[in-house]
Amino acid sequence: MDFFLDTGIISEIEQAAKWGFVDGVTTNPSLIAQTGRSQKDVITDICKIIDGPISAEVISTEREAMIKEGAALAELHDNVVIKLPLTEDGISACKWFSDNDIRTNVTLCFSANQALLAAKNGATYISPFLGRLDDVGQDGMQLIHEIRAIYDNYGFTTQVLAASIRHSIHVKDCALAGADVATMPLKVMKQLFKHPLTDIGLNQFLADHAKSNK
Ligand code: G3P
Repeated sequence: MDFFLDTGIISEIEQAAKWGFVDGVTTNPSLIAQTGRSQKDVITDICKIIDGPISAEVISTEREAMIKEGAALAELHDNVVIKLPLTEDGISACKWFSDNDIRTNVTLCFSANQALLAAKNGATYISPFLGRLDDVGQDGMQLIHEIRAIYDNYGFTTQVLAASIRHSIHVKDCALAGADVATMPLKVMKQLFKHPLTDIGLNQFLADHAKSNK
């Protein structure tokens, strides 16, 4: 299972990169806006830190404009993955990128049928939004299970990239459901390390070592 960091903040990416298990980065227009910098500058900087898939989202909403914008983003670095919204134009543009060997991440997926369309058009990644489904009283994790089962039924190679992850239980449940990737904010990645018994145990070990080495 790959772990992606969901942020455009360079200091967060530098911090997580030191842990050694970050495989890629996802961004979206809201995350880029939080940085106060241009998308081009942010993506270029991320590519210098993480050698893995870096998702950059188009803001165009019409197929031809998406293709033009996405093709320019793909020129920034070989690791850039073009993020497209799950609309008629986005799915159509996805097919163009697939046919031109440019990797895609189809985003804003909230149903298994939407995920099926992305896979049929050769998306590299599909991004179902767990947390936002949970927010409206639907079962986000159920969607991950459904997409996994459908992709496995037909041998689709599109990777299930669980997004809108809000806490560490989401990460564990995604792993159990067979998601290929989980993208998460730094806060959630930090939660994965934590268990109170680890802290208590380490403090005890250090205290005992200090007593025996007086
Ligand atoms: O990048 C897409 C996704 O991870 C957004 O998450 O928390 O804004 O629903 P969130």
